[in-house]
Amino acid sequence: MLAVPTTLNTKDFRVSLVGAGALGTAIAQRLSSVGYRFLSVVNRTMSDAQALAGSLGVPEYSDTLDAISPNTNLLLLTVSDSALQSVAEKLATLRLPFHHLTVVQFSGALTTDVLRPLAQKGAHTISLHPFQTFPKGVSSHDAESLFKCFFGLQSDELEGIEVGKKIAHDLGGKVMLVPKEAKTLYHIAGVMASNYLVTLASLSSEVFAALGLSPKDVAKIIEPIMRQTLNNIASAPTIADALTGPIERGDAQVIARHLRELSEQVPHLLPIYAALAIETVRVAIHKGSISQGDASEILDMLEDITRRESTSEQSSSSI
Ligand SMILES: NC(=O)c1ccc[n+]([C@@H]2O[C@H](COP(=O)([O-])OP(=O)(O)OC[C@H]3O[C@@H](n4cnc5c(N)ncnc54)[C@H](OP(=O)(O)O)[C@@H]3O)[C@@H](O)[C@H]2O)c1
Repeated sequence: MLAVPTTLNTKDFRVSLVGAGALGTAIAQRLSSVGYRFLSVVNRTMSDAQALAGSLGVPEYSDTLDAISPNTNLLLLTVSDSALQSVAEKLATLRLPFHHLTVVQFSGALTTDVLRPLAQKGAHTISLHPFQTFPKGVSSHDAESLFKCFFGLQSDELEGIEVGKKIAHDLGGKVMLVPKEAKTLYHIAGVMASNYLVTLASLSSEVFAALGLSPKDVAKIIEPIMRQTLNNIASAPTIADALTGPIERGDAQVIARHLRELSEQVPHLLPIYAALAIETVRVAIHKGSISQGDASEILDMLEDITRRESTSEQSSSSI
């Protein structure tokens, strides 16, 4: 049975939310602003449930799951990934109208399998992950632009796909269907695009620290170049076309200087520099900006470092 009518009118959704954190707050505020009717808000910390309910004009809020309104037909679970399993198990013991209920979780790493106790009770289950990063305390104005992103959607049921598409579109986003077995690879791609960008900024900051600059100063210095690089990625015909710099130009002498300086000033960064530089040579080859000879010369230097690194790791692990 379909949990919500096939016509999927926004006004037919009767929504409850569990997890008034960074994403839960942004989603609830955005959906409420486009006409979704919220009935109840639950959060482990009561004051956060109360604050979100207050901002939505919802009278029902609680720190326990049994306060979820029995009139709910759309249940949004925006608790942390580690809490999803136990929340789903507890929800399955409650007297909820499961055959009229669609349950959505928003994890990038987990599939609808984590909601199996609810599916076994007859609920439709959806995994709908915004390919976006939401800091805590995001304003509703910022949330509107943050949701203009892709949503990785996975559900075993056609009805689930339809409801997931509706929610993603109402939030202002676009849908990318993710097969259940591809969810981990999908998540890895997200971690590389977002989390490791932060790691790269942190690495740049470590090198700048050798010049005596504070992380706060570095953030101001690197922000324009990082932002423009993202602009270049967005506007270039391919990601490879956005590459500039010494490897793109095939300048082996500059890379040799970098390696010498790193080994003197911040030797612990040599392996990560070499690993990233090897991947950057692949990008430059893809772009067609580097000759075979220059690529080989640079790769020889870099692979020498990664070889030495793995030899020293092997000898230290055999001690
Ligand atoms: N933030 C992002 O950038 C982002 C992006 C995409 C997807 N997601 C997904 O969104 C979900 C939520 O992430 P988040 O970043 O919003 O986490 P978060 O800010 O830590 O919020 C999680 C919320 O869930 C509440 N909670 C935890 N366990 C609970 C339980 N057993 N019962 C009731 N409430 C409980 C927490 O309450 P307390 O504060 O009391 O602990 C907190 O308010 C996760 O599945 C995450 O993978 C997040």
